[in-house]
Amino acid sequence: MTIPAELIRQVAAARRVTVLTGAGVSAESGVPTFRDAQTGLWAKFKPEELATPRAFRRNPRLVWDWYDWRRKRVADAQPNPAHHALAEMEKLFPQFRLITQNVDGLHQRAGSRNVIELHGNITRTKCFDEGTVISIWPDTGDVPPKCPNCGGLLRPDVVWFEEPMPEAEMEQAMQASTHCDVFFSIGTSTVVYPAASLPFEALRNGATVVEINPQPTPFTSEAHHVLTGPAGIVLPQLLAILKNNRKNQRLRKTSFI
Ligand code: APR
Repeated sequence: MTIPAELIRQVAAARRVTVLTGAGVSAESGVPTFRDAQTGLWAKFKPEELATPRAFRRNPRLVWDWYDWRRKRVADAQPNPAHHALAEMEKLFPQFRLITQNVDGLHQRAGSRNVIELHGNITRTKCFDEGTVISIWPDTGDVPPKCPNCGGLLRPDVVWFEEPMPEAEMEQAMQASTHCDVFFSIGTSTVVYPAASLPFEALRNGATVVEINPQPTPFTSEAHHVLTGPAGIVLPQLLAILKNNRKNQRLRKTSFI
């Protein structure tokens, strides 16, 4: 993959970098994206049919079992080179914010620190009625398990379709998108709002916007730079160039003295 010199110059000169990731970043960890066909016993369902409060009320066990199956797949998955490259990139800039639509927690497992989780996290569980996060509950054999505080049903701590976005995270994400020098949109189909508005907000506020995706998206024609390839290949390559640039800069400074 050839990374344009202009892009390298702009990223190397940036102080504030914001990244938005989608399911494509976890694809190389073996975690299916939302637009991948569902497999096995879930093949006959669409995520949109299961990831809603209505689906949970209608059949709580089905929805809980689907998330249980996904939680196990995520637990077995490992962060891939894209996750690790982003965790390394965080150390190269005075201000680096990572916004993710993913609920798999792989960015944190790769070492990324300040991750803004727009759609929650599948490894956390909360009470459907109270909304409080519950970390342990008695094993009564109930599926879904019951809240130890109020007896309501437990559910994954993720944002379902038709549910409001988490206010604090959305505010942080909007701030990070409208106040950055470079914005990377990586592995997202840019079709689900309000997350999909963030690259457009960054562009509108003067950031250099870079899209990394093997496929085109509704944002591709707007991006300043489009790196057409898998994140697990492109990001480590970009990171290596940035690190090499910094090493050369340091060398130049000492030789000048
Ligand atoms: N590297 C980079 N991008 C990839 C890779 C890869 N290896 N493999 C696939 N992609 C791209 C696809 O081309 C697609 O554009 O990742 C994108 C995945 O798109 P979606 O499956 O729609 O995932 P995402 O954009 O995260 O979905 C947004 O929609 O279903 C809801 O809440 C859910 O957070 C999700 C949101």
